[in-house]
Amino acid sequence: METKVTSSLTHVLIFVLFTLFFVVNRQLVAATNINLVSLGAKSDGLTDSSRAFTSAWKIACESRNPSTILVPQGRYLVNKALVFNGRNCKNKAISFVIRGTLVAPADFRVLGNAGTWFSFDDVTGVSIFGGVFDGQGAGLWACKRSGKTCPPGATTIRFSNSMNIVVNGLTSLNSQLYHIDFDGCKEVKAEGVQVSASGASPNTDGIHVQHSTGVTIMNTKIGTGDDCISIGAGISNLWIENIACGPGHGISIGSLGKELNEPGVVNVTIKSCTFVGTKNGVRIKSWGRPSNGFVRHVLFQHLTMVNAQNPIIINQNYCPNERGCPGKVSGVRITDITYQDIHGASRTPIGVKFDCSSKYHCTNIKLNDVHLTYRNKPAGKTCINTVGSIFGSSQPNNCF
Ligand SMILES: *[C@@H]1O[C@H](CO)[C@@H](O)[C@H](O)[C@H]1NC(C)=O
Repeated sequence: METKVTSSLTHVLIFVLFTLFFVVNRQLVAATNINLVSLGAKSDGLTDSSRAFTSAWKIACESRNPSTILVPQGRYLVNKALVFNGRNCKNKAISFVIRGTLVAPADFRVLGNAGTWFSFDDVTGVSIFGGVFDGQGAGLWACKRSGKTCPPGATTIRFSNSMNIVVNGLTSLNSQLYHIDFDGCKEVKAEGVQVSASGASPNTDGIHVQHSTGVTIMNTKIGTGDDCISIGAGISNLWIENIACGPGHGISIGSLGKELNEPGVVNVTIKSCTFVGTKNGVRIKSWGRPSNGFVRHVLFQHLTMVNAQNPIIINQNYCPNERGCPGKVSGVRITDITYQDIHGASRTPIGVKFDCSSKYHCTNIKLNDVHLTYRNKPAGKTCINTVGSIFGSSQPNNCF
């Protein structure tokens, strides 16, 4: 009898404590949900929903609770260049859950000089889940191809000076310029992204990174008219895995060394990627100009080439329009680059092409199990100013 009473009292006590804990806890961390439609966004594809985005960001930013901005299904016209600034945000956990499609104005002149369509500056802890971003870039590409004077175009999504960023399950279509850009970021995880634009669209890089550390890009499919992924100066600890690239210009480190003073690229892993009908597979490219930039400690591993024009290439004599570089050589120092388990077909007779700086030769270049064919025969290799070695079962024709 006594034990029974004690036990029910204990139960009541535990229940009360739990309830208290729950109520208090909820007040501390209750997530704020913000529905874009309740802020005036219209899913008709015709009404500009820019203001709703700005309002949603303001609410999320001023909340101390983790916040989710929900964009329900439907098409939302976003006519303005949006800036999500985090400098004075109280919030370090803002998620966009996007079930709908965001559409840029059809007239490319509206955003053509804006720089970026969706710009995230100085934000911490921002995630984007899902969403289709339709840049409607075809008009601008046609303008550029016609040789007329056209605005440069807008990058679709750009994160600058930001940290703890997640981009997951997002689709970027037909950007005017770059699709997704991370500049000055720390700890970025981009996963399950899709990028799609015409193979003939100019300057539509899939994902561009520069001045950033701790960026991971995984399980992503990119078809576009320029580099699938381009890696600029000032990069460390970059991990790229399981990318399907094509059409496009491949994965490129560079162009580097345009400036005299430039931070280097160090510790990059690019693994398990396929390149289908691309212009390059994996490329390192620098201007033929003086620079103190460098590329160090890069691993290319488990790559498949399906008719890539230049499957493996280092070009240190980049000089478009022969302006600003003739007679000069690249100062960018390239060292400790490993190519391991790279196979498939080259669309040109040369599968491996190293054209390094005559001043600073590429050093410690390793080819390990590199098997590239051209018309079912081993593809050739050329090495200029390159010091390296061949390991494993890579074909003969040691060009070092
Ligand atoms: C290289 O980068 C990876 C992430 O891509 C990181 O895990 C590793 O610790 C880095 N290595 C060094 C030596 O910094």
